[in-house]
Order: sequence, then C-alpha cells, then structure tokens
Amino acid sequence: MDKLIIEGNGPLRGQIQISGSKNAALPILLATILVDGEVCLSNVPQLRDIDTTIRLLGLLGCRAERDAGDVRIHSCDLKPEAPYDLVRTMRASVLCLGPLLARLGQAKVSLPGGCAIGARPVDLHLRGLEQMGAVFELEQGDIVGHCDRLRGAHIHLDFPTVGGTEHLIMAACLAEGETILENAAREPEIQDLAEFLNACGARISGHGSSVIRIQGVSALHACTYRVMPDRIEAGTYLIAAGITKGRLELLDCPVDALDAVIFKLREMGMHIESRQNMVCASADGPLRCVDISTRPYPGFPTDMQAQIMALMACSQGAGVVTEGIFENRFMHVQELCRLGANITLSGQTALVRGVNTLKGATVMASDLRASACLVLAGLAATGRTDVRRIYHLDRGYEHMEVKLAAVGARIHREQE
Ligand code: UD1
Repeated sequence: MDKLIIEGNGPLRGQIQISGSKNAALPILLATILVDGEVCLSNVPQLRDIDTTIRLLGLLGCRAERDAGDVRIHSCDLKPEAPYDLVRTMRASVLCLGPLLARLGQAKVSLPGGCAIGARPVDLHLRGLEQMGAVFELEQGDIVGHCDRLRGAHIHLDFPTVGGTEHLIMAACLAEGETILENAAREPEIQDLAEFLNACGARISGHGSSVIRIQGVSALHACTYRVMPDRIEAGTYLIAAGITKGRLELLDCPVDALDAVIFKLREMGMHIESRQNMVCASADGPLRCVDISTRPYPGFPTDMQAQIMALMACSQGAGVVTEGIFENRFMHVQELCRLGANITLSGQTALVRGVNTLKGATVMASDLRASACLVLAGLAATGRTDVRRIYHLDRGYEHMEVKLAAVGARIHREQE
C-alpha cells in the first residue's frame, strides 16, 4: 500500500492544470450504455474509479478504448449483469441499473455495500425507477429488475440526491413520454450529464434547476463530448494556496461552480480573482475561521468540508462546521487532532478552534476527501507528515503529489 510523505516547507507558487471531473465523468461513462453508436469523450481524468467504471462497461458488453484523457465507447453487445466485485468497490456503479433496464428491459446489479461516510442507500433511485414501470426483487444481495419499455412519470424526490437525479435522468431519456423530476439535485455534474445526453439526441430541459423535464426518445446517437473540469479538485488547490500562504493559478478552473467555496475562502481572508477559466488564489497574512454548513448545490459542498476544516484548523479564532448531507463524515477530525488541531465534535457539528501551528505526524486516510484534508494539513505542518492508506486519494485526485511538487511542495510517494 502506498503512503505520501510531506515535509511542510512554506508557500506554494505556480500554476496547476485542473483535471476533468470525476463525478461528471462517472455518470457520463455509464450513460454511454444508452447510446447506439460510438461515443468519444475527452478530458476524462485518469483515476482508479474511472478505470473501475471502464472495466465494468467492458463486462457489460461495451467496447471501450482509452488513450490518456480520451475514451471511446461503443455499447454494441450489452449484457444485463454487473458483477458484485466491481459494484462493491464503487457506489456510483449502481447507475448502470437504469440504463440497462432502458436498453434491455432487464438488469441484475449488486446492491452497493455500506461505505465509510454513511449508510448511503439507493431507495430513492429504486422508487423512481418503479414509478417508471420497473419491478425489482432482491436476490442474494443483487437487485434484479425488469420492465417492458420504461414510461415517463412525475417523480418527486424526498431529498435532492445527486446519484438518484442522474440515474432517473438517464432512465427517462429512452422512456415513453415525459418524465418530470421535482426536488431534483442541481449540482454542475448533473448539468454536464444532461448536456452530454442532449448532445446524443436526448430532450432534457431544466437541468441546473430543481425541476427537470425529460421527453423520452426512441434512441440516442453517437457524439463527442468534453467532460467539465473538476470543481472539487480545484477547490482543494485553492485551499493549498491558502494553507501554505502561497499563490497558485488554477488553469481550466470551473469558477462559477465554486461560488460557495470562493465566498467562504474570501470571508476567511484569502484573495481570489478570476479571469475567464483561470483563477488566482493567494493568502499573505493570517486567515480567520468561519462557520460552514454543507448543503446540496448551490450550498457549500460536503466534498469540500474536510479540506476547509484543515484550513480552519490553522487559522485564527473559532468556527463551527455543520455537516448537512452525510451522517458520518467527520473521520478526518481525529487525524487532524493528531497533527495538533483543536476540534471538538458534537453530533453533526465540529467546533474548530484555530491553533498557531500544526505539527507533522503519521495519519491515516479514511476516505477520499479526508485524504485530501490530511495532505493539505501536512503541507502546513512543521516537520514530516506521513499520510497512510492513500489508495482513497488515487480514486479521486489525478497525480496529486506530482501537481503539488511542481508548485514547490516537498511531497513524495513511498510503498509501505
Ligand atoms: C454524490 C457524489 C459525492 C458527493 C455527494 C453529495 C458522485 C459519484 N458522488 O454522491 O462525491 O459527496 O453526491 O454531494 O457524484 N440518499 C438516500 N437515498 C437515496 C440516495 C441518497 O437516503 O436513494 C442519501 C444518502 O444516504 C446521503 C444523501 O442522500 O445521505 C446524499 O446522497 P447523494 O446526493 O445521493 O450522493 P451520491 O450520489 O452518493
């Protein structure tokens, strides 16, 4: 297993190219199951979750070829079964269920297991698909579904689930008649998925708002599409500039999708300016803690909660962080405390009292964004920090240590 070794050494300076978005690329890759013809995607990040998805598509009968950030996929010989071994490693793979039902009228997909950041059920996905005419049974941990042609439905989501919204948009594209999704999630990655599907001939409108309408069509056709840049990767590097009191320019940064994060970082005292798709972030003096509540988009993203907590941990004053999406997403807190942070947990809130300096130590990454939080804290800490179990990081950040080393960080990877 690999670990990262970081020696905090002051300000980072330079340019970082932001990669394609993992959370947009995953549903778009799975949506290619719906398409009759070859899809050519560009700006697909090279990450473990993407490799897993391409492997899954191969097992489902899609022909996939990859050349760096370009992926070509043709769903020519579809099979209805997604094996447990792949689905259990990545929750998003459950999104193949709806597209398989839409194309084949049957599907067998393992129920995704529990995951480190909470129970994360898929009941809202299944309920929506049932409203569209699918029938499900649970057989030995597999969801087995079948249907005649899916039919459009009026669906009200109890919670604006990101994966659930994506799943139902995909299924509705090939359904008979109109589907209306109310209380839909509004995340930019959902807009990217809808724009990809529209480029293939789907008729989706209202994406980006909480009411999405999909007019079913009989088939989707080939297209080429560029995946949007990763707002969470970009947000993480904005914080790298702040936590090292450096100055970073982020290229191809999806600035509009980062409004809530940039607003909070400015409130903390960072300078952030944007020009077209380039964002320049810097900090020259001490930063101040603020209060943060994670919420569905356009609120502050839960996927940035751990990273901003690292920044607050070594800022002035105190702030309250409230996690409003997942019930168990504070596992980074104990590890930050091992680095000298002063954080008290009470239910879904964390009280962060800033300290003057964090001190290097060995810490353990528990999930993807917690890993990024610990790397950021390591950049600011005095002495050496070893971040163990970084396989989580490889699921979601493309070449993180290479990008950070190129702007002056002392960071390298070692095998344990
Ligand atoms: C996606 C993102 C993840 C991000 C999350 C919230 C991807 C691949 N992952 O995850 O990085 O942290 O959005 O922004 O895009 N829920 C239910 N029933 C359901 C579905 C969800 O109760 O059927 C609950 C979950 O348990 C969780 C909350 O809703 O508490 C949010 O989940 P959801 O929005 O679905 O997140 P994901 O799509 O899994």
